[in-house]
Amino acid sequence: MFLDVSNLTKKYNKKTVVSNISFGIEEGELLTILGPSGCGKTTILRALGGFLKPDAGDIILDGVNITALPPEERPVSTVFQSYGLFPHMTVLENVIYGLKFIGIKRKEAEKVGLNMLGKVHLDGEENKKPHQLSGGQQQRVAVARGLVTHPKLLLLDEPLSNLDAKLRLELRKEIKAIQREFNITTIFVTHDQEEAFSIADEIMLMNKGELIQFSKPRELYENPSTKFSLEFIGSVNYDKNNNRFSRPEDVYFDEGGEEMKVLECSFKGQTIEYTLLTSDAEIIRMASLNKRHEINVGDTVRAVVHWSTLDKMRKS
Ligand SMILES: Nc1ncnc2c1ncn2[C@@H]1O[C@H](COP(=O)(O)OP(=O)(O)OP(=O)(O)O)[C@@H](O)[C@H]1O
Ligand SMILES: [Mg+2]
Repeated sequence: MFLDVSNLTKKYNKKTVVSNISFGIEEGELLTILGPSGCGKTTILRALGGFLKPDAGDIILDGVNITALPPEERPVSTVFQSYGLFPHMTVLENVIYGLKFIGIKRKEAEKVGLNMLGKVHLDGEENKKPHQLSGGQQQRVAVARGLVTHPKLLLLDEPLSNLDAKLRLELRKEIKAIQREFNITTIFVTHDQEEAFSIADEIMLMNKGELIQFSKPRELYENPSTKFSLEFIGSVNYDKNNNRFSRPEDVYFDEGGEEMKVLECSFKGQTIEYTLLTSDAEIIRMASLNKRHEINVGDTVRAVVHWSTLDKMRKS
């Protein structure tokens, strides 16, 4: 493994906030850490970046144990949620800031910096100060600054959470494209499942300081290994008597199906979400592509539920 983290533990005042976590990723992979607020995502990034000292555990990057190294001696770049740009410096000076520490002369650094600004679509903005840019542009500067030193590991802590939905999507695609182009091993922290699914090679799902599931996005969605994974990821119908589940998109209108009553309809544009009540008083959530059918609250419909078994489920 290119990055190999073993038994990482961090406590604050005897409270364990990261509990004996081990994981690894290959060179060039993008790992997303996903989990509810307070589960320890930022703490893990700070330990990897060298900004806090873990109570136990080892961090091996490209064969070197970096656990005890200060941040500036690690080949790791961190992009913080708040961007952390220097307000008195220009965009270009911000981007090339880290290059002087690795012995790159000013002229060369400027060339490299301008090239990187082009990659994040900020050509012509190099002489502005950060406050003259929009939030999305500032985020691009922060990403450019993180990439310009060609770190072995790039850490991004909720880099898109301050942006509106459209810009988020755009920038997410750009980050992924640059990450691929430079083959930079990356850890990307997010709350947002959809973001995690679309960007990640691997997802690490955490809860309360513990690693719950480490898998590829599809595997996490289709084969959750714990009750927490099942319920955290997307909406779900869970049949505890038979230990099986069905996602809303696995429920279909079907003339041969079971009779159900429509309790709620929620129009989403592309899809419509229904809450249905079976004759056994079970609630079924359904999502259906908007086919322009008129179905209203109170109607009786017929639907079939396709169930999946939770074969890998370990614990609740
Ligand atoms: N310096 C600190 N002193 C004491 N407790 C801390 C400190 N930093 C973090 N914690 C606690 O550690 C836990 C994990 O915090 P962390 O910031 O890693 O969560 P997170 O998953 O990044 O959450 P969010 O999604 O809200 O950013 C939380 O319970 C938090 O209150
Ligand atoms: Mg955080």
